[in-house]
Amino acid sequence: MPIMEEKTFSISFQEFATIDELPEPDQELCREAEKALSSSYSPYSEFRVGAAIRLQSGQIIYGSNQENVAFPSGLCAERVALFSTGAQHTGDPILSIAITAKSEKFEIIDPVSPCGACLQVMGDFEQRQENPIKVLLYCLGKRILVSHGVANFLPFQFIEQRLKD
Ligand code: THU
Repeated sequence: MPIMEEKTFSISFQEFATIDELPEPDQELCREAEKALSSSYSPYSEFRVGAAIRLQSGQIIYGSNQENVAFPSGLCAERVALFSTGAQHTGDPILSIAITAKSEKFEIIDPVSPCGACLQVMGDFEQRQENPIKVLLYCLGKRILVSHGVANFLPFQFIEQRLKD
């Protein structure tokens, strides 16, 4: 008989019907993510994504998706904001990130979840700062999903401590 164990785990997140139900600082961060949509350069997908990061110092860092005529050279809004934080605000921990999206082509009916690469990067920031990041997925005029930590989205994040030494 093969020795095999079936395992499960559960994830947890909060759902809010409207932005007004969120605590004031989170409402504000969602609005900041909405502002970031205007700097999106997305002529190919016509899909704007905006991200806003709140740092422990209180500063807000913005990101929006930046596309390129050589398609793979572009970058998602989340990683633009995260790497900008890493490059310009070293040592100032990330408390939360809000993400939203907008398209002129179609209606977005549910919150946009970060892609796997963005989750990996976000999770790495969490590991480095040894504190979870609150993730707010904000669908304009619709529901908002909130996760306390990246692990709810990416339970099998690549973490290899030995690579550091
Ligand atoms: N995009 C993001 O900026 N964030 C995500 O979480 C998913 C996708 C961007 C990449 C590309 O510019 C456009 O959305 C369509 O995929």
